[in-house]
Amino acid sequence: MPTNPILRTVSGHEVRPAVFGAMQCGGNADEAQSRAMLERCRDEGIVHLDTAYAYTDGESEKIVGRFAAPIRDELFVATKVGLTGGAGRKNLTAQFDRSRARLGADQVDLLYLHRFDPETPLEETAEFFASAKQRGLIRYVGLSNFAAWQVMKMIAVAQRLDFTIDVIQPMFSLVKRQAEVELLPMCIGEGVLACTYSPLGGGLLTGKYAAKESGRLLSEPKYAQRYAPQWMHDAASGLKAIADREGVHPATLAVAWVMHHRYRPAPIVSGRSIEQLEPSLAGLSFEMTPELNAELSDLTPTPPPATDRLEEG
Ligand SMILES: NC(=O)c1ccc[n+]([C@@H]2O[C@H](COP(=O)([O-])OP(=O)(O)OC[C@H]3O[C@@H](n4cnc5c(N)ncnc54)[C@H](OP(=O)(O)O)[C@@H]3O)[C@@H](O)[C@H]2O)c1
Repeated sequence: MPTNPILRTVSGHEVRPAVFGAMQCGGNADEAQSRAMLERCRDEGIVHLDTAYAYTDGESEKIVGRFAAPIRDELFVATKVGLTGGAGRKNLTAQFDRSRARLGADQVDLLYLHRFDPETPLEETAEFFASAKQRGLIRYVGLSNFAAWQVMKMIAVAQRLDFTIDVIQPMFSLVKRQAEVELLPMCIGEGVLACTYSPLGGGLLTGKYAAKESGRLLSEPKYAQRYAPQWMHDAASGLKAIADREGVHPATLAVAWVMHHRYRPAPIVSGRSIEQLEPSLAGLSFEMTPELNAELSDLTPTPPPATDRLEEG
């Protein structure tokens, strides 16, 4: 059976299954803070950097591009197009050209379609990716925020055009576990890597909202809505209690829980400062026991399986 594929840098090095997310770079994190985080990640051996056309009005791609320029072949840079404007060829081409200009690079290691577009035929989107790959403008292809059936349709179309879907990027954390029902098992079955975002539930799992600290769940309505259910806040409090008992930061346990999930996704860690980032980085090397893993999983409901009658064996 296929397993998660291994990504490689241009220089041929295996990319470690952990990613730095640059969504705050050029926004809440200024260039100095962003560079400090990028350098800290590099020291940790994290070379996979995740940005997007849509982040911080292009500042994120520019900061990543400036950081990567002298060491391009040692890094693995991913960006995304098509969050806005649809997945038609014209829009994807225009955004990708702009992304490459901001990144200061002809080639991007991994290009994602940022979201599924029900209005555009998959064939048209796939032809854009096939052409970009044939022309050497991208090395790997990814899909973000897709349902499993949508990924499978794209895999079939891509096969006909002679390229592969290599990576998916869904949301996944202790409080957002939908991906473990179909997307993550699909990845193992199809030989696709899952790089999963928001391992801290946008900051909820740091415990800072129970402590009345500020953050995006208070300042950005879409995050407040995404993490509104009380059971999510109860889980964050439960996680904090376990973290206090274990003598670690709750963010460390939240990232480690993703990292040690049985389907082995690659968490995308991030923050607005080096101080915020440190506990997440510690989660990447945290030694998780099966008992602690089970205790953490029990903090939130396991989503129901994709098919019924499993009790019949
Ligand atoms: N494909 C997609 O649609 C998509 C969507 C979202 C993210 N992503 C990718 O995934 C990456 C990570 O996503 P995310 O930022 O949502 O991840 P996350 O790890 O769930 O949340 C990170 C946020 O949590 C807060 N935080 C982190 N460490 C903290 C600490 N030690 N103490 C207090 N607060 C802390 C900060 O929020 P405050 O700024 O509020 O303090 C920080 O920005 C992004 O950079 C991006 O690359 C992709």
